[in-house]
Amino acid sequence: MKNIILTGDRPTGNLHIGHYVGSVRTRLAIQEKGGYDKFYIMIADTQALTDNSKNVDKVTNNVIQVVIDYLSAGLDPDKVCIFIQSQVPELFEITSYFMNLVSVARLKRNPTIKEEIKLRGFENTIPAGFLCYPISQAADILAFGANIIPVGGDQLPMIEQTREIANVFNSTYGEVFTLPNAVLPDIKACERLPGTDGKLKMSKSVGNCIYLKDDEATVKQKIMSAYTDPNHIKVSDPGKIQGNVVFTYLDAFCKDEHFKKYLPEYKNLDELKAHYKKGGLGDVKVKLFLNNIMQELLTPIRERRKELEKNIDKIYEMLFKNAAIASKEAQKTLENMKKNMGINYKKFIGQ
Ligand code: TRP
Repeated sequence: MKNIILTGDRPTGNLHIGHYVGSVRTRLAIQEKGGYDKFYIMIADTQALTDNSKNVDKVTNNVIQVVIDYLSAGLDPDKVCIFIQSQVPELFEITSYFMNLVSVARLKRNPTIKEEIKLRGFENTIPAGFLCYPISQAADILAFGANIIPVGGDQLPMIEQTREIANVFNSTYGEVFTLPNAVLPDIKACERLPGTDGKLKMSKSVGNCIYLKDDEATVKQKIMSAYTDPNHIKVSDPGKIQGNVVFTYLDAFCKDEHFKKYLPEYKNLDELKAHYKKGGLGDVKVKLFLNNIMQELLTPIRERRKELEKNIDKIYEMLFKNAAIASKEAQKTLENMKKNMGINYKKFIGQ
């Protein structure tokens, strides 16, 4: 079987460290390991419009931002095919056929959709396009025959629904699709990194994210003011690890080598945690350690970004070229679908 990887992001803002550990890092690992047949990364502008219909500029302006974030993080356009969703119209034709195979009740039961409806206060005003975006996401995946989908934990219900749609299509019209599998980050803390304020999700509007493009001083300031344990007041107080953002970030980013380099009194994160729990370890020390780790990761990303920003036209050209490649692939799938469904009018005139 072929290994076809596909994943994507909505272009509603720059990527932050939650995206990094939730998906970008996995993508980099896949890219380095190689051995796949195709690797697509889609900038889901059309999906972003489902809840930003009045903010088209926000979406279109952020496309290039997200692509620069990818490239500066190390994704290589010679190894991955990055393209813009709206430039592959076949995806929406595929979506139309899938729409008939899913009930509205099923869409409303999708846990991610449910949560997002609440978050956006949509209740009685859910845009139809928004409710249906899991169907369009199924089209994104199935159009390319993708079987490996590296995503964060919040996307699991989407992959589940994609599998259901593939199954219903196959059993209704005959086999076209293979079932995709989600690949989650292997560290639990990375599935959904909390915001610096300890809130469940990093969100631009709340202002609790550390962005890949943040400058050195901003990163440090955000780390130094991050939420820890409100009852850990004096250094001698015992501290809590659970819900402590600084330790959650360490779970996501810290490796044993970092101790040798920046905090040699401890061997590893377990030792540091044990000391914090017992009391006698201050927040500032832990935060400065985290800051060192984050700067080590983010400095080269920031520098590459500066270079990439000098040649935006070249990046757009790459995107347009890739859209044509993706479009060709999706056309093949669409033809197979229509053949199985019996949508072919030339047969009536003997062709
Ligand atoms: N829903 C994803 C997100 O919000 C973006 C996305 C669109 C996607 N299509 C996809 C992810 C296909 C994986 C596969 O981040």
